[in-house]
Amino acid sequence: MAALRVVRSVTALRRALEDERLSGQRIGFVPTMGALHAGHASLVQHATQVSDVVVSSIFVNPLQFGPKEDLAHYPRTPEADMALLEAAGCRVLFLPEVSEVYPQGFCTTVQLPGLSEVLCGRSRPGHFSGVLTVVLKLLNMVQPDVACFGRKDFQQALLIARMVRDFNLPVQVEVCPTLREADGLAMSSRNRYLSAEERVAAPALRAAVLAMDAAFRAGERAAAPLLALGRARIATVPRFALDYLELRDPQDLSERDGAVKQGDLVAVAAQLGSARLIDNGLLGTEEAP
Ligand code: PAF
Repeated sequence: MAALRVVRSVTALRRALEDERLSGQRIGFVPTMGALHAGHASLVQHATQVSDVVVSSIFVNPLQFGPKEDLAHYPRTPEADMALLEAAGCRVLFLPEVSEVYPQGFCTTVQLPGLSEVLCGRSRPGHFSGVLTVVLKLLNMVQPDVACFGRKDFQQALLIARMVRDFNLPVQVEVCPTLREADGLAMSSRNRYLSAEERVAAPALRAAVLAMDAAFRAGERAAAPLLALGRARIATVPRFALDYLELRDPQDLSERDGAVKQGDLVAVAAQLGSARLIDNGLLGTEEAP
């Protein structure tokens, strides 16, 4: 296992990758905000399969947090993160300070109207502009051939792929499967906010998606009863404050309010205690269960 090299500046990052780039090696990239778990490890492992040298970044991006969100409390576990990255096959970790990413005077941001205004974007205004801005910057800093993102953040991955296409960025975007705990809860850095009691209740979000998928597979094609079924499942946990449960086109995120079809997106977000949880599935496909 090669040792993990930690770099903190863009200059050091470019220098660390100089030889690999010059010798034509393929660079893979997994951007993260730290507090890493097995889902992140699986992204790094995937990156090792599609590139020669894997770079990861840990940067808790202030631009993607709203004023009332958890930026100040976002979990930070650098030592454990480095061990996980090294074990998964990451070779270079970019660990910048906020001032390295957003030097004084920084003011250019990425806007992607429409797609970024629905689902999570509706309840987190400015969030996706923050995500896209930092991802564009990180892609320019690392200049990878391939970048890997998790499907749990379906909308984020879709927006990033659109930005890459719209800006002709020379990077291949790979979207990798969601990793789940044994009871189905999607792995997330924010799961550690859950109390023991909330942790037991949390898989209801996944159960709602699965119930809708099962009804779809049994022949239900109308959006309204499917949504009612999912909402009823979530309502079994009174402490869940549902943000949204929606059926949408997986390509353009337009709403499905009449009939649904195979591959349509079920997307859900809810607050449970201090954790905002999201999940999703594609009806009638292997991405649903
Ligand atoms: O998914 C995340 O962890 C973040 O949104 C990302 C892509 C690293 C940008 O800060």
